[in-house]
Amino acid sequence: MTISKRDRRYSQKLYAQACEVIPGGVTSSVRNVVPQLVVRRAEGALLFDADGNQYIDYHGAFGPPILGHNHPAVKRRVFEALQDNLLPGIGTTTLEIELARKIRQHVPSAERVLLCNSGSEATFHAIRVARAFTDRKIIIKFQGCYHGIHDYVLRNLSSTPDKVGKWDPASAGMLPEAVENTLVCTFNSLDEVEATLLAHRRQVAAIIIEPIAHNMGCVMPKPGFLEGLRALCTKHGSVLIFDEVVTGFRHHLGGFQAICGVTPDLTTLGKAMANGFPIAAVCGKKEIMDHFNTHAGGDTFYGGTYNGNAVGCAAALATIELLEREPVHQHVYRLGEKLRKGLEEISGRLRIPATVAGYGSVFLTYFMEGPIENYNDVLRNDALRTIEYRQRLIEQGVLKLPRNLKRSHVSFAHTDEHVDRTLEACEDVLKEMF
Ligand SMILES: Cc1ncc(COP(=O)(O)O)c(C=O)c1O
Repeated sequence: MTISKRDRRYSQKLYAQACEVIPGGVTSSVRNVVPQLVVRRAEGALLFDADGNQYIDYHGAFGPPILGHNHPAVKRRVFEALQDNLLPGIGTTTLEIELARKIRQHVPSAERVLLCNSGSEATFHAIRVARAFTDRKIIIKFQGCYHGIHDYVLRNLSSTPDKVGKWDPASAGMLPEAVENTLVCTFNSLDEVEATLLAHRRQVAAIIIEPIAHNMGCVMPKPGFLEGLRALCTKHGSVLIFDEVVTGFRHHLGGFQAICGVTPDLTTLGKAMANGFPIAAVCGKKEIMDHFNTHAGGDTFYGGTYNGNAVGCAAALATIELLEREPVHQHVYRLGEKLRKGLEEISGRLRIPATVAGYGSVFLTYFMEGPIENYNDVLRNDALRTIEYRQRLIEQGVLKLPRNLKRSHVSFAHTDEHVDRTLEACEDVLKEMF
């Protein structure tokens, strides 16, 4: 295979039009990459741009389409729900009840469930109710983890080396008081968490964590780390929040908590829950969840015009039922492993300084030596090489987001043939680059 530039002239024209009405031409900052794709259609494992170029898609919109894009069973269920055009905005619906019951059935921590529309809303509600429940202000998050767009958590994401663990809000316009009340620890460092809890005795409302740090690619919790957090939260009276917006439904119907055996107090879910339709959830212990003012006497505000809308609920029910019925996890775990093994073999044979990481359906190549246990480690990744590698892969028809540290995802629609073609393309690109 030779590296061939794809013709994207029509896409470029459309992108110029987008820039005339949309600041930067994209509706989420992380979508602004080179090359600028204008996507016309998504089907199964494939994306098609406006010029008709085809890409095997591993970006997977940051994680939702676990079944593959545009899945017929999910679409059918949504069409059916649309016949009743359900957004009553009063009381509840059968779809909401059915979905909440499904989540409770699968997710170990989910004694009670509330629906919302995005992962950011879910983490916002989880933190606010944790503060109300404990009557404390401070929360702890981990350097490099992402939990959504709001001021409570938008700090110390992809910090530069001089700002690791220090004052590093990720946006202008954030309230300094919100940033101050969110402390930052190192992923996998129980000692640091314990010291922080001791330095702020009876002040820490919650610890929020991605149980696998997928916003740094794939950083696994060390054995005992999540168990240790559980024990520290219990000891210090803080709420443990697992942000399973990425890991939930993708790694297991019950989230990573069902795999690792650690049960948090609250859990946030989104993304793979509805295969690409907008819906999310916050769930957890009854005694905490009953603080929401959906419950009589609850003191913590909970609202949202579109909460529990029929489209999201129907898509989530169809997705969860397929995950229950079909060997989806078996398939995506097998292909994920095949990709990781193949990439390791190629980089080993070509003597490229790389570490292939991942879990289940998630994979990525770091251009660095291991071990990879926290954000300080991933800072060693060669970001420019990562971006160049992915840009070259796009020209070969393989789409991984051309940004540093971004994970790739396999879906139920990916096949062995897609994986074989991908490995071939990766080898060609790596040979060109090294
Ligand atoms: C772990 C995690 N939590 C929360 C969010 C926020 O979800 P949303 O983009 O749906 O608001 C994300 C989004 O990428 C995420 O990765």
